[in-house]
Amino acid sequence: MTAAPGVPVVDLDLGELRDDPYPAYAKLRHTAPLAWVPSVGRHVVTRYEDIVHAEKLPEVFSSREEGSLLLRTVGPNLLREDDPGHRRLRAAAEPPTRPRQVLELWARTFERTAHELLDRIAGRGEADLIADFAEPLAAANLAAVLGLRNASADDISDWSRAMMAANGNYADDPDIWLRAEHATRTIEAAVAEMAEAVRREPDGSVISSMVHAADPVRLTEIQNNVKVIIGGGVNEPRDVFGTGAQALLRRPDVLDRVLADPGLWKRVFEETARWVSPIGMYPRQLTRNHEIAGIALPAGSRVALVIASGNRDESVFERPDEFDIDRRHRPHLAFGGGPHFCMGAWVARHEVSALAWPLVFGRLKGLRLVDDVDDRMEGWVFRGLTSLHVTWQA
Ligand code: HEM
Repeated sequence: MTAAPGVPVVDLDLGELRDDPYPAYAKLRHTAPLAWVPSVGRHVVTRYEDIVHAEKLPEVFSSREEGSLLLRTVGPNLLREDDPGHRRLRAAAEPPTRPRQVLELWARTFERTAHELLDRIAGRGEADLIADFAEPLAAANLAAVLGLRNASADDISDWSRAMMAANGNYADDPDIWLRAEHATRTIEAAVAEMAEAVRREPDGSVISSMVHAADPVRLTEIQNNVKVIIGGGVNEPRDVFGTGAQALLRRPDVLDRVLADPGLWKRVFEETARWVSPIGMYPRQLTRNHEIAGIALPAGSRVALVIASGNRDESVFERPDEFDIDRRHRPHLAFGGGPHFCMGAWVARHEVSALAWPLVFGRLKGLRLVDDVDDRMEGWVFRGLTSLHVTWQA
């Protein structure tokens, strides 16, 4: 697939995007808000208003992208489906992730897991908060919400990594496909076992909710949707935790204010997700001819909605590159929009802003960043810290 007529072609280096995509996005917003980027293989949309426009027209901007690597990895699933098929799966899977259910069903388990992980490291006085805390916490919480009592946090993390590698396997590396296939087969067996168990005894989880849906859902559909949730439900809470924790440790004045007024954790969460969005972009494909950013695109055009760029659009957010918990409220795009608005938003908000940050900063006294360690931020489709080395008084 190539550029549609009249669309400027802009070469972007994927290595540079991985290191820091924000300067390239700022340039695109000013010079080519709709651009064909050969290395991305899509028409890239970078302005806030244009992304919101696309999300309001899901019947034009379809989620059923042809040749999608995600489809190849996990099979048909709600994320790559349009309404009404999408609505049916979403209605079946969503109830356990609604705000009240998060508090009633999962909050206590999330808190216990966070304490257990902190118990393991508290006496050490130093840790990598990504590997030692945020990743296993996000994975264990996801296992609970999904209803995978037969899987450990390590299983969930391994499966998630294998599938994410496959979703980005543009080089067609056979080893990556093999690992993903092994992971997906193992998940299918684990889901089948739990689906059988909750058929007799419902437990409020996503699997249970799908098994007992009013509009029946087949086992393969449950398996595929669990796969897609595992593929994308670990790294985002982990990454927002890491980015926000590092931002606060670098701004002691802001941290002091938040510790004195815990109501501010919610603002830290929304500002972190805006500032460095854990998911930077996602694809859509046009079902018919349509104009966006002033350029007519033909039916079939592939589009990338770059929400990380929309979240730094200076026409919406003042001084967008600054981390500022006091900024005037404007809705950010980090959870997407339209019918595919993130199903796990309330799970993530609660586990990170109500539990993980307050417990880490409350229990690890004198927490500070380790100097001279390269805790790098990486990625543009997904973006977060590869590690977060800290010390405290043990
Ligand atoms: C800070 C954390 C998170 C962020 C920033 C995030 C972001 C997103 C975004 C941008 C989308 C839309 C993608 C698209 O339209 O193509 C999405 C969809 C989704 N997310 Fe999340 N996510 C987060 C956490 C989670 C968690 C913890 C779960 C699971 C419990 C989850 C489950 C889902 C599901 C199932 C969808 C697909 C919804 C649908 O198609 O109707 N997310 N997420």
